[in-house]
Amino acid sequence: MRAVRIETCGRPPVVGEHPSPVPGADRELVRVVAAPITPLDLLCAGGTSYFGTPALPYVPGVQGVGTAGGRLVWFPTPAGMAPGDGSMAELASVPSEDLVELPAGADPLAVAALGLSAVAAYMALTWRGELAAGEQVLVLGGGGVVGQAAIQLARLAGARRVVAAARSSAGLERARLAGADAVIPLGNASVTEWAGTDARTSPGDPSVTEPAGTDARTSPGDASVTEPTGTDARTSPGDASVTKPAGTDARTSPGDPSVTEPDARTSPGDTEVAAPAGAIPPVSTDVAELADRFSAACDGPVDLVLDPLFGIPAAAAARTLRKGGRLVNLGGSASETCPLDSSTLRSRSLRVLGYTNNELTREQLARAVAFIAEQSAAGRLAVVYEVSPLAEAAAAWQRQAAGTARGRIVLHTS
Ligand SMILES: NC(=O)c1ccc[n+]([C@@H]2O[C@H](COP(=O)([O-])OP(=O)(O)OC[C@H]3O[C@@H](n4cnc5c(N)ncnc54)[C@H](OP(=O)(O)O)[C@@H]3O)[C@@H](O)[C@H]2O)c1
Repeated sequence: MRAVRIETCGRPPVVGEHPSPVPGADRELVRVVAAPITPLDLLCAGGTSYFGTPALPYVPGVQGVGTAGGRLVWFPTPAGMAPGDGSMAELASVPSEDLVELPAGADPLAVAALGLSAVAAYMALTWRGELAAGEQVLVLGGGGVVGQAAIQLARLAGARRVVAAARSSAGLERARLAGADAVIPLGNASVTEWAGTDARTSPGDPSVTEPAGTDARTSPGDASVTEPTGTDARTSPGDASVTKPAGTDARTSPGDPSVTEPDARTSPGDTEVAAPAGAIPPVSTDVAELADRFSAACDGPVDLVLDPLFGIPAAAAARTLRKGGRLVNLGGSASETCPLDSSTLRSRSLRVLGYTNNELTREQLARAVAFIAEQSAAGRLAVVYEVSPLAEAAAAWQRQAAGTARGRIVLHTS
């Protein structure tokens, strides 16, 4: 079968022939339709994860969507974390009990893009974070898949206000389009442009400049979105106008770096107007200043921080919490360590919690995947993603690793 193969740790994969999986007892063969390239895939293939160096060669892909026995299913794999092949191939062998049947109307590419990142956002918010209706949530990494999903899922869970922070202009735009009430840059470059700015970011926000011919895919229910010619955009919830042209493979998105900066604000005397499109400003190193920036965008103390970043953003976010507030960390995209100060923790009796999908029972995982797929099928949940043919997996892998993709890259295998 055709498959993506990791032959050397730390090097891009190659696409080639690989032995087809043999069906075993209590296992089913899945004809793979879609497999996302995720941070966990990149981490495992680097050979430096806490799972150890994987046996080579192997097929990466810790999750996918495909068909088995006439059903559309989502499935996990342990690829890169334990011996065995994963989802980035034409076929995968999966324990029958791990298959999660998807609801009618589920789009395999959209569900694959959401995948375990959306599961983590959902369970970290609702199960670990015990989000209650009426609470205010601060989502870090709001332009990533975890972040975009968390913004929408917090809203679905009844959050009163959802504020998001992101690093790049494209990430800020993705967070805005996911429906954040306010978006806050993490970088120094645009502090004066954004501090205290309440973006109140409905897709129809007239302050957002759309360049001519730009593909602006938007958040739930926006019927005003126009389709650009010749572009295939994969999108966000409820956008009824979005079509999926056959045969195209570049799904562009609200995170398209070609989108101009929203309403760049300047302070008096500041002649700098906007960062170059696509530039990633360095994340602020000033915890106190970043905390002030977060607080200015919130309407009072925050109840829950959803944190896939750690590092300085998490330390700053902790300072915005109310007494007894919770910070749930589920990733270290910014840093492995975090300068949390004792006085912030103890003066407010904060709860700092860790979360990993790996602790979910099979039943919890299946229920969470089913929920995510139902929200997706109903048009209430979506993240920005691109589609790449399996044959171009090596280039796609490199773009995902370099952070230059327009969102999650999903390999389309059939
Ligand atoms: N615990 C779990 O079970 C679980 C499950 C899924 C994911 N995760 C973890 O959660 C994290 C996010 O996953 P994801 O799927 O959302 O990944 P993703 O879609 O690739 O997004 C990563 C985000 O991190 C931001 N980022 C990267 N480097 C940064 C830095 N140095 N400073 C600040 N922001 C930075 C990026 O911001 P810009 O867009 O602004 O560049 C991007 O939005 C990863 O660490 C992943 O391993 C954990």
